[in-house]
Amino acid sequence: MMISELTLHHRTLHLNRFPKKDKETLQAWDAGDEYIINYMEELNLSAPKNILILNDNFGALSCWFNQNHNVTMMSDSFISHQATRTNIASNQCNEIRILNTMDEIPNKVDVVLIQLPKNNRHLIWQLNQLRKALKSEVPVIAVNKARDIHTSTLKLFEKHLGQTQTSLAWKKHRLIFSQANSSTPIEYRDYTGWNVPEHDIYLDNLPNVYSGESLDIGARFMLEHLPVETKIKHVIDLGCGNGVLAIKMARLNPGIKLTCVDESFMAIASAKRNLAQNLTEEHDIDLIANNCLDDLNIKNVDVILCNPPFHQQQTITDHIAWQMFCDAKQILKPGGQLLVIGNRHLGYDGKLSRLFGKRNVSVVASNKKFVILQASK
Ligand SMILES: C[S@@+](CC[C@H](N)C(=O)[O-])C[C@H]1O[C@@H](n2cnc3c(N)ncnc32)[C@H](O)[C@@H]1O
Repeated sequence: MMISELTLHHRTLHLNRFPKKDKETLQAWDAGDEYIINYMEELNLSAPKNILILNDNFGALSCWFNQNHNVTMMSDSFISHQATRTNIASNQCNEIRILNTMDEIPNKVDVVLIQLPKNNRHLIWQLNQLRKALKSEVPVIAVNKARDIHTSTLKLFEKHLGQTQTSLAWKKHRLIFSQANSSTPIEYRDYTGWNVPEHDIYLDNLPNVYSGESLDIGARFMLEHLPVETKIKHVIDLGCGNGVLAIKMARLNPGIKLTCVDESFMAIASAKRNLAQNLTEEHDIDLIANNCLDDLNIKNVDVILCNPPFHQQQTITDHIAWQMFCDAKQILKPGGQLLVIGNRHLGYDGKLSRLFGKRNVSVVASNKKFVILQASK
C-alpha cells in the first residue's frame, strides 16, 4: 500500500503524484526531499527567507517550505507544476510562485534548493542561470541519489557555479553544497542544433528536450511511415519533443492544422522554433504544454502521432502511454487513426486492442527493435 503522508518534525503533509492514480504504488517524495528538509530544519532559520526550489518533483519541498518562507518553484515539467499546485491546495498551504526553467531567476533569493535534473545539459543550463543571477553568499543545496552523483557531476558544479562540497550519504542520498563564485560565468548556448539530412530537417533543441543531441531512433523509423491522405485536416503530435514528427507530417500533408502537445516547456519552445524554421507553407499551429490531452477542448481529430514516453522522472512506467491512448481515442473522429511507435517488448498492441478492439489495430511497419501500430476509431 502506498503511503501519501510525509511526517517529519511533528508536521504531516498529504502528498500525491500527478496524475493521481487509483492504485498508486509510488510515493510523491523521496529520501532526497527528506534529507533537504531535515538539513534545513536543523539550521533553525528564524526570519522568513526567499527560497528558490528547482525541479521539485511533485511539490513536497514547496509545500514544506512555504509554511514559513516565500517560495518560488521552477521546473520544466508541466506535470510537476500541476502536482505542486494540487498538493499546495490540498494541504492548505500558502500560494507560491511557479515558473519554468526558461524564466529569469527571481531577484531576491536567500537559499536555493535543487532536486538534480536527470539530464546534465539541463543541469548545466540551471547552474549557468544561477551563476549569472546569484550573489556569491547565497547557499545552493542540491540533492540526488548518491549513486547518481559522480565526480563529473561535482565538476559541473565547480565549473558552472563555484566552490562545491558534498555531505555524507543518508538513506542512499547525498547533498551537494555550492555557491555562485566561479571565476567568470561561462558563455553557454541555449539551443543544440543538428540536421536530419535524409528529410532535410534542421532541429534546434533546448537542454531538456528528449533526445536533444540526435534523432530518436524510434522517431527515425516513424518518419518513414507517416500517412499521406488528402482527407487529413487536423493532426496532433502527442509528446512532440522537438516537433520532428509534426514537421514531416505537415510537409507530407500541406495545409493541415497541427496541435503539438508535450509536458516539457522546453520541448514546446523548441517545437515552436523548429516548425517555424522548417515549414514554408502556412499552417494553423497550436503548441500546448499539458499532461497528455487533459482538459483540451479539441474534437474530431483525424490523426494522432505518438512516440510515448516510458518513464516519469526516474521511474519506468507505462501509465502515461496508457493515458495518451485513452485520451487519443476520446478526441479522434470516427474513422480517425492513432499511430503509435514503441519498442517491441512494450506490448502496446495489447493495450491498443483493449481500447480500440483487436480488429481495429494493425501493424504499419516493424523492424528488429520497433513496431508501428495503427489503431482506428
Ligand atoms: C519518446 S519522446 C518522443 C519525442 C518526439 N515526438 C520524437 O519522436 O522524437 C516522448 C515525449 O513525451 C513527452 N511527455 C512525457 N510525459 C508526457 C505527458 N504526460 N504529457 C505530454 N507529453 C509527455 C516527453 O517530454 C517527450 O518529449
